[in-house]
Amino acid sequence: GKYRVISTKPMPGTRWINLLIEQDCRVEICTEKKTILSVEDIISLIGNKCDGVIGQLTEDWGETLFAALSRAGGKAFSNMAVGYNNVDVNAANKYGVAVGNTPGVLTETTAELAASLSLAAARRIVEADEFMRAGLYDGWLPHLFVGNLLKGQTVGVIGAGRIGSAYARMMVEGFKMNLIYYDLYQSTRLEKFVTAYGEFLKSNGEQPVHWKRASSMDEVLREADVISLHPVLDKTTYHLINKESLATMKKEAILVNCSRGPVIDEVALVEHLKQNPMFRVGLDVFEDEPFMKPGLAEMKNAVIVPHIASASKWTREGMATLAALNVLGKIKGYPIWGDSNRVEPFLNESVPPPA
Ligand code: GLV
Ligand code: GLV
Repeated sequence: GKYRVISTKPMPGTRWINLLIEQDCRVEICTEKKTILSVEDIISLIGNKCDGVIGQLTEDWGETLFAALSRAGGKAFSNMAVGYNNVDVNAANKYGVAVGNTPGVLTETTAELAASLSLAAARRIVEADEFMRAGLYDGWLPHLFVGNLLKGQTVGVIGAGRIGSAYARMMVEGFKMNLIYYDLYQSTRLEKFVTAYGEFLKSNGEQPVHWKRASSMDEVLREADVISLHPVLDKTTYHLINKESLATMKKEAILVNCSRGPVIDEVALVEHLKQNPMFRVGLDVFEDEPFMKPGLAEMKNAVIVPHIASASKWTREGMATLAALNVLGKIKGYPIWGDSNRVEPFLNESVPPPA
């Protein structure tokens, strides 16, 4: 191979490797046992000749790493993730390294996990499972694990991008929920979908569903019964959900987060869960990942999973393939980013096949 491409982790499937090998790349996969690589670990992986790197969201891709990659002749970096809050894109620009991410292939998988957490919280699935395994079930009772009916309730979506919109459609169509969403951009496609589905239900003689675009996030927090967070993490969304916003929500609301942990003030959330036993939460991400704030693991009204929202086989193989194509595209000059070094949100839609 003429080009040296590094993947900081083994990734699912073989397609991504084959794509690179077929196009003159030597692929080196780091098999270091520890889960999270430090900046120093990655610097030594890069060495003094490296054309591109596929990295992970657990790594801190800032000034130091882009400088090292650029010194090694590197031109491309792809996060194997759609979120890139771990990447300093300005630093990458400064060192002439193009940055890619992996949108599109994880939209439905991630939305399905948000839906799973919503249902698990609403129907107390994890608590009930623990109860069974503990051998506590001694007969059917009218009061046993009574949860919330979603039908006819309102689902609130904060951030109606690809994932937020896919989740909204699942909840509206699957469970006949009304929708309230908050986003800087209007999602006319989502609005049209809910309107058309509402018409369909009406024509069936059923209760229609409705949508509303909220003029503030607080409006969603006040009115929704199930709220799912889908913003990007940046300075404006850090601790978007805090003590005050939690107090705005209904006492029996369900809050779901499959975006990034720091969007929620987790200490305030634990306190809120303690004070409001009917309030439930479904979390895929944590403020100090991989750690949880004290007390969270003891809360019965929390469903907690280890950042697995994009973890379906199809999606993870797709993410690996897309990350490889991102790096290959820059090295071999496929027009994936156009002329700029920006992260291109829809780059997967126009990836040409390798020449
Ligand atoms: C996962 O969290 C991702 O951003 O892809
Ligand atoms: C994430 O990629 C989103 O747009 O929701």
